[in-house]
Amino acid sequence: MSDFDGIRAIVTGGASGIGLATASLLASRGATVVCLDLNSEVAAPLTGIRADVTDDASVRAAVSAAAATLGGIDVVVNNAGIGAQGTIEDNDDAEWARVFDVNVQGMVRVTRAALPYLRESSHAAVVNTCSIAATAGLPQRALYSATKGAVLSLTLAMAADHLREGIRVNCVNPGTADTPWIGRLLAGAADPVAERAALEARQPSGRLVTADEVAGAIAYLASPFSAGTTGTALAVDGGMQGLRLRKE
Ligand SMILES: NC(=O)c1ccc[n+]([C@@H]2O[C@H](COP(=O)([O-])OP(=O)(O)OC[C@H]3O[C@@H](n4cnc5c(N)ncnc54)[C@H](O)[C@@H]3O)[C@@H](O)[C@H]2O)c1
Repeated sequence: MSDFDGIRAIVTGGASGIGLATASLLASRGATVVCLDLNSEVAAPLTGIRADVTDDASVRAAVSAAAATLGGIDVVVNNAGIGAQGTIEDNDDAEWARVFDVNVQGMVRVTRAALPYLRESSHAAVVNTCSIAATAGLPQRALYSATKGAVLSLTLAMAADHLREGIRVNCVNPGTADTPWIGRLLAGAADPVAERAALEARQPSGRLVTADEVAGAIAYLASPFSAGTTGTALAVDGGMQGLRLRKE
């Protein structure tokens, strides 16, 4: 008997990085899982359904298809997200709208479409992938940080709105995680080795966190075992938010 036996989950951004690690972990612990992503190619036992979280019709069709495949929905992992670099001078209004559309409204669309199914579930949980950028000021991340600050506030508001319907809502706040996203970021840096070393040094643990470590935290919050936990943000950041170590 495993904690996710009988649990039906959808994971956005489930074709890569943190989303794929989460979908795989939930499946290994007994859940049946549908990944909603621009890329619908995932390996068994996962099922992939193409969805663009910026398109309400696409989201509604994909969530309804996922619910039909799974026989309902108990867990929603809102994880699809994109990055943005620079100060407030570096991104124009269209880019601000585009990144908010994916990172914030995307979660709204997916959860809104899933609510009728979550209300039917006896173990309903929503977990949003937020970021250290919501709680720490990071240079050159103005737009991205603003979206993740919104995700943190949205998580709390949703937790309040849906508590009495039996739906828990929490988020995870990863530090820099070793995923294809960071691979792309490093590939675009002037000195990828120095950039990676700087990112590692920024976390007190001296290394990037892994996608599997973030997945473990998401699984904790999604599990029926954490039924007493709602409206929280769980850091998975190698101590970056809370610790101040002296130099060795
Ligand atoms: N990697 C990090 O260091 C880090 C740190 C903190 C938070 N996060 C957050 O974790 C989440 C996942 O990041 P990752 O590093 O695994 O990235 P990733 O690029 O490896 O995966 C993101 C996935 O989201 C999908 N996606 C993007 N736009 C989409 C859309 N419009 N509709 C549907 N799917 C879409 C992509 O196709 C991709 O499969 C993001 O929300 C990100 O902000 C990442």
